Amino acid sequence: MTLTLPPRVPNGFTILDVCCKAGGASYGYYLAGFNVVGVDREPQPRYPFPFIRADLRDLDAEWIAENFDASAWSPPCWEHSDLKHRTGKTYEDFIPEARALAEASGLPYVMENVEGAPLRDPLVLCGTQFDGLRVTRHRLFESNLLLYPPRPHPKGREPLHFTHDKRKNHYGRLDEWTAFVTVTGGGNSSKAAAEDAMGIPAGWMTKDELNQAIPPAYTQWIGWQVADHLARLEVA
Ligand SMILES: C[S@@+](CC[C@H](N)C(=O)[O-])C[C@H]1O[C@@H](n2cnc3c(N)ncnc32)[C@H](O)[C@@H]1O
Repeated sequence: MTLTLPPRVPNGFTILDVCCKAGGASYGYYLAGFNVVGVDREPQPRYPFPFIRADLRDLDAEWIAENFDASAWSPPCWEHSDLKHRTGKTYEDFIPEARALAEASGLPYVMENVEGAPLRDPLVLCGTQFDGLRVTRHRLFESNLLLYPPRPHPKGREPLHFTHDKRKNHYGRLDEWTAFVTVTGGGNSSKAAAEDAMGIPAGWMTKDELNQAIPPAYTQWIGWQVADHLARLEVA
């Protein structure tokens, strides 16, 4: 399906989203008002914005500085994921290279990853901090700007998640269209309910793309902060 982009108020700034995959993070920056250009080393036929196929290691910091107002990075996170802990394999870690490029550009940057990844002083976002999301999906965001959350993380236990696992006490008591859901791992909801829970337009992404996507509400929230910073620089 070709994604029809909803109208939004453009902010006049352009952000480069490196390791964009199908564009979950990019979509949030778009909704915040940015023009978005994506980079990924794999073809991304469902990516809805201008796209450059490239390896991040071949990007040039001067080119980023000359053509963009800010950059966003989602370097692969397998080295820090459950997969590594389950399989014991080692995976490539592009975080240091991504950070070096982002810093060398001199622009505001945001780098996202999973819990456990070695990001510097990251902001942690969770779906419970956003109205309308029904995923917990903690993600870390490092930046050279001071980022803040929409509201503090709720204290206490996480909400119960819809499950197909009959061993769980709450099996059969929750509706996947109203309860929190897990997108990857055991106890999954249907793909359609996961899209709805993550705020991702129905039918845009494959299940694998959805599994790896950021809920766009996270990057919309961060995008507003980056745009605010850029607008202040313009008037200074
Ligand atoms: C976790 S996914 C990104 C998900 C995306 N942020 C979203 O919200 O939909 C990571 C992406 O990094 C890409 N990638 C991995 N290594 C790369 C490299 N060296 N250069 C560019 N892209 C790379 C992968 O192809 C994959 O699409």
